[in-house]
Amino acid sequence: MDIHDVPRAPGRLPVVGHGWGLWRDPVRFMAELAGAGKIARVDIGSRVIYVITDFELLHRVLVENSDAYERGLLFERIRLIFGESLIVADGEQHRDLRRLLQPAFHRTELASHAHTMKRNADALASSWRPGQHVEARSAMLEVVIANVLESMFSHEPGTGELQFISGLVEDIGAGAMVGSVLPGKLANLPLPVNRKFLSAGMQLRDYCRELLVARRAGGDRRNDLIDILLDSSIDNHHSDKFLAEQAVTVLFGGIDPSTTTLTWALYELSQRPEMASRLQQEISDAGELDPGSLGRLDYLNRFLNEVTRIHSPLLQTRRTVTTVDLGGFTFPAGTDIGYSIAAIHRNPDIFAEPDTFDPDRWPASTAGTKCRSFVPFSMGNQMCIGNNFAWMALQTTLHSLLSKWEFRPVVTEKVPRAMGPIPGIGKLPLEVRPVFR
Ligand code: HEM
Repeated sequence: MDIHDVPRAPGRLPVVGHGWGLWRDPVRFMAELAGAGKIARVDIGSRVIYVITDFELLHRVLVENSDAYERGLLFERIRLIFGESLIVADGEQHRDLRRLLQPAFHRTELASHAHTMKRNADALASSWRPGQHVEARSAMLEVVIANVLESMFSHEPGTGELQFISGLVEDIGAGAMVGSVLPGKLANLPLPVNRKFLSAGMQLRDYCRELLVARRAGGDRRNDLIDILLDSSIDNHHSDKFLAEQAVTVLFGGIDPSTTTLTWALYELSQRPEMASRLQQEISDAGELDPGSLGRLDYLNRFLNEVTRIHSPLLQTRRTVTTVDLGGFTFPAGTDIGYSIAAIHRNPDIFAEPDTFDPDRWPASTAGTKCRSFVPFSMGNQMCIGNNFAWMALQTTLHSLLSKWEFRPVVTEKVPRAMGPIPGIGKLPLEVRPVFR
């Protein structure tokens, strides 16, 4: 069968195609896509994407036959900022960059990063007062930015700096998503969303370049990402622009998904006091823990599995570079392919009652078995390079916050959405109450 035989997702409207359904409830749209087929055609305005909803087909694309694909639609837009960096590279260039940056994420480095993460989360927890209404998303955003800057760049940002970077990150995230689905002509017009995206991207890249230049001028060594980049430029004569592109990729790449995941975790806790108190009991029974041994907190890890299963990346893209046979269809070179981790994580054939939030669906973490189709960080050679860093930050931050506080919902009129790879909550006011044990 050829590309025209691929079943189309239901609910297509004139002009906007499936754009309206995707906008109205993105996760539901993706979860229901599996009903159309293992691969379903989705029309967003004038763009057509063939979205894979089946795990085994996805495995073929990302792992077994990855050389037949390049990054695709979502990456065209961010290339304007990230240039030739890891997050947009393919093939040989990607392999080289991955090898270059991997040491910054080694397990031995992670152990020392865990202390930084704990310090930041403890400082946040100590800054709250009983009964205070805190805005959880912006608080998580600042902790996440501080974690990456201190761990990878050995740089402690001040309050104003954190707010400045938070603003840039939000503008880049919104512009990247909106711009990727705008029709070609609109994507290049000087619309406010496009101007903000480009300006924020340039400012964040310049910020990273200044950190690199200052380190080189100062001559001190910190054994971090900046040292790795500066060392590589000695032999390879990389330009400062190239180095700043790698740095901004690492800084930006993890901020949005980590912030959104932590915000969802706090949201779920505020809705489920019984789970929060089970977690608090586990944390208190474990006593003083080295941040590196948080893996032993069984219920915390099951809870995080469930948060990352139910709130996962909505749509990633690839593009065929050659003719590809997949799922019984033949796709010519240049076909836009999408994949939805959210759809796979909500598939009832893999996860019974997929819309139910239930940490107990996961086996004890000591059993060491995770479901093969549970892929919050994707899979293959382009899977998330920051997965272990991110997991440690999730564990450490929740451990610190839950040691001191309970979270209660605050009634608000309308909850704004956050645009990013994982559909999120734009603002989450919560009341904090002290934990008494
Ligand atoms: C809960 C947190 C996170 C989630 C759910 C997540 C998810 C992902 C996913 C699904 C991809 C693959 C995208 C694709 O298929 O094209 C990815 C790639 C990537 N992530 Fe993460 N990520 C998280 C945190 C982080 C952190 C903390 C960092 C860095 C400090 C990071 C840096 C990157 C980079 C650089 C890539 C591109 C890797 C490559 O192409 O080789 N991520 N992430």
